[in-house]
Amino acid sequence: MTLDNDQLDRALDRAHHHAYRWLLSVDERDVPPSASVEEVAAALGPDLPDGPTDAAKVVDLLAEACEPGLTAMPSGRFFGFVIGGTHPAALGADWLVSAWDQNCVMRRVTPAHTAVEEAAARWLLDLLRLPTGAAVGFVTSATMANFTGLAAGRDALLRRAGWDVTDGGLTGAPRVRVLVGEERHESIDLVLRFLGLGRPTLVPADAEGRIRPDALGAALDEYDGPTIVCLQAGNVHSGSFDPFAECVAFAHRHDAWVHVDGAFGLWAGASPTYRHLVEGCAGADSWSTDAHKTLNVPYDCGIAVVREPADVRAAMGMEGAYLIRDDTGDPFEKVPELSRRGRAFPVWAVLRSLGRSGVADLVDRLCAHARSFADGLTALDGAEVVNEVPFTQVCATFGDDDRTRQVVQRILADGTAWMSGSRWHDLEVLRISVSNWSTSDDDVARSLAALARAVAD
Ligand SMILES: Cc1ncc(COP(=O)(O)O)c(C=O)c1O
Repeated sequence: MTLDNDQLDRALDRAHHHAYRWLLSVDERDVPPSASVEEVAAALGPDLPDGPTDAAKVVDLLAEACEPGLTAMPSGRFFGFVIGGTHPAALGADWLVSAWDQNCVMRRVTPAHTAVEEAAARWLLDLLRLPTGAAVGFVTSATMANFTGLAAGRDALLRRAGWDVTDGGLTGAPRVRVLVGEERHESIDLVLRFLGLGRPTLVPADAEGRIRPDALGAALDEYDGPTIVCLQAGNVHSGSFDPFAECVAFAHRHDAWVHVDGAFGLWAGASPTYRHLVEGCAGADSWSTDAHKTLNVPYDCGIAVVREPADVRAAMGMEGAYLIRDDTGDPFEKVPELSRRGRAFPVWAVLRSLGRSGVADLVDRLCAHARSFADGLTALDGAEVVNEVPFTQVCATFGDDDRTRQVVQRILADGTAWMSGSRWHDLEVLRISVSNWSTSDDDVARSLAALARAVAD
């Protein structure tokens, strides 16, 4: 089949038209979707056509049928989960990723991506204040970045104990115990399941969800076999950070591997104002973060960092006679996937566009908006902010659980902003996560006004 230039031109033109119109609309449209799954499915049509359709027409159909079913996640007033938006430089670069269609596996086969990946990796280590020379892999998500770091840790600890996982698997291997704070993110448990390590041992946390160093010390004393300690930069409810310096020192005294899940919080290191939160974190052995959260690149982009490149290579490296290897190492040796898109292009683009001060400003702005939410909520009748708000997360209650659930329902029905409910410390809470680069003071004011309406109704 030959390339039909006219069809290509019209398909890209229609995609640009729909994308641009959508992005301009998110400032004013309601954040929740207006169509259900069934309505979108009906608009798309159920049947696979017997023959071909012009590509531009398909793009039109997709955009028109789907748009009512889209949640305005790129809106500056979307505060659910930990989502992030898309910086324009990252979006532009991401379009090129699809057009260039590079399978970024081997250093010499895709030199453009390798150069960009290596530059972005250097900048990331510098900004996040992690050890120069650590291996940086671009994966789909923080979950897979946690998988990568913890796999490297599992294999390294077992190697030190005289067991080669590559040869022997896990059957008959010494037990690897994993210590986690009781408020670790649930994706850690999932990853431990993938890794055959089973349920972690929970270490008590304080009122903000930070692992307690005394409790960690006591837990470390209970077992002298291979141990992984998993710490957290950014609790999904409170935004709190584990006390890294003390915990890393305890763990290393016991020869444990320390992994830090910093899905959104590791970015505190890029801000002179907030970097005290990650003090001591650089002493760990592996780290995970997301670029699709705080850095605001499109989904999907997580980042796995391992201090000793040989450790991640041992866990993730593979052979293949048809692969073209480079003596300096290949990108696929740092990640679980082989074939993958050029995720480093958008990361490089947003870092290049913001520069050092721009990334710091981004982090500072997200935190300042979270603080404004906390202050604004405190002024509302019956509202109580239940976390210290050290970073980008705010949790609030409105009297009893029923009333809090009602306020959550009302704010979602209002449509101005999107915030979800959750359960934290045995309380129903309204959870606000500020993660989008485009959130403005006006977005916060409009969202607080909507909250005032939800409380008053
Ligand atoms: C602390 C933490 N770890 C891990 C994750 C999982 O991230 P992802 O959805 O990118 O896999 C999240 C998601 O919000 C998180 O907050």
